[in-house]
Amino acid sequence: MITKRIKSVFSAVALFALLFVMMGCNPESPQSTFDTHGPVAEIQKNVFMFTFWIAVFVFIIVEGGIIYLTFRFRKKDDKLPSQIHGNLKLEIMWTVIPAIIVVIIAVPTIMALWKTQVMPNEEDSLIVEAVGHQWWFEFKYPTEEIVTANELHLPEDKDVIVKITSQDVIHSFWVPKIAGKIDMVPLHENLLYLHADTPGLYYGQCAEFCGIVHALMRFRVIVHSEEDYQKWLEEMRTPPMKTANGTPEDEGRKLFVGNCSMCHTADSYKKGAYHKEKEAQNSRWEEWKNNKEESDIVSAPNLTHFGNRITLGAGLKENNYDNLVKWIENPDSLKIGTRMKNHASIYKSDNNLTSEQVEQIAKYLLSLKPSNENMATYNN
Ligand code: CUA
Repeated sequence: MITKRIKSVFSAVALFALLFVMMGCNPESPQSTFDTHGPVAEIQKNVFMFTFWIAVFVFIIVEGGIIYLTFRFRKKDDKLPSQIHGNLKLEIMWTVIPAIIVVIIAVPTIMALWKTQVMPNEEDSLIVEAVGHQWWFEFKYPTEEIVTANELHLPEDKDVIVKITSQDVIHSFWVPKIAGKIDMVPLHENLLYLHADTPGLYYGQCAEFCGIVHALMRFRVIVHSEEDYQKWLEEMRTPPMKTANGTPEDEGRKLFVGNCSMCHTADSYKKGAYHKEKEAQNSRWEEWKNNKEESDIVSAPNLTHFGNRITLGAGLKENNYDNLVKWIENPDSLKIGTRMKNHASIYKSDNNLTSEQVEQIAKYLLSLKPSNENMATYNN
């Protein structure tokens, strides 16, 4: 009786697990590898589908054989059936057939590796540096001297070489609809070839367990038409509107300078800011590394033109006033375990901000947009 019940519970769980896994195959899902938007993802999908159908064929033959033999040779009497142990013909057959299947699968696999792992010419490609941090992504454009975080902007139909590394532990860079994943390893550079066919918004995810907030370490890729991409570059070099004296935004700016600017930079539109930010990020890291438990300073996302960001908390929530207030008030309410909450002095009991001050900082951050009236919005 009990074993029967266990069996039915087990079957139900297995069925749900199967349905759950199959839901992941839905191309509508934001991280589905079946809805490809670039040649790299397309090549990888094709290898998968090719292997999948061969596996389906093998499955049908083997399972069909088992079912047929089960019924065809059911025990009818006590006579021992003829034994095939050591049958040379059969042994050769079931060694050679799988070997041939492996060779058949190896050909497109090796060709795909060749096409996706050999980097395009650096001169004709956009170079981006992606750095993993616990638990967010830093994106740098060394030629354009632009630095940003958690939202990677790319032009459509352009070869991109992403130089991938990490500052702390091993992470993994993955934009399922555009390309496969690759590890972000400290003190080591990995290269990833990206090429996006269609403008749009794509989801990225850290795909290597990297600590308590691993699952919420996300990013977005925003692919623009060439024209919009140039506009974005221009905007990244345009300062935001000056906050007017006496406004909540201006109070927020002062609070930001006093409480947040040791870790967050928000003025990368300035000339030379790119190299300064690189140095600052390194010294923040050194400070934290040498003083882990007590450090007030940690590596943190660049917040230049934060008002134009789609998300906050590394791709976690929509970037709007309410979410931002919640986030600044208590990052743990959205994402437990961030270094901001654990180390920034404003969260240490004697140094808390009032609700009004939190609101002022939120208003200031949302006001950080290029001051050009005709700026494009990226909320599509
Ligand atoms: Cu970073 Cu998982």
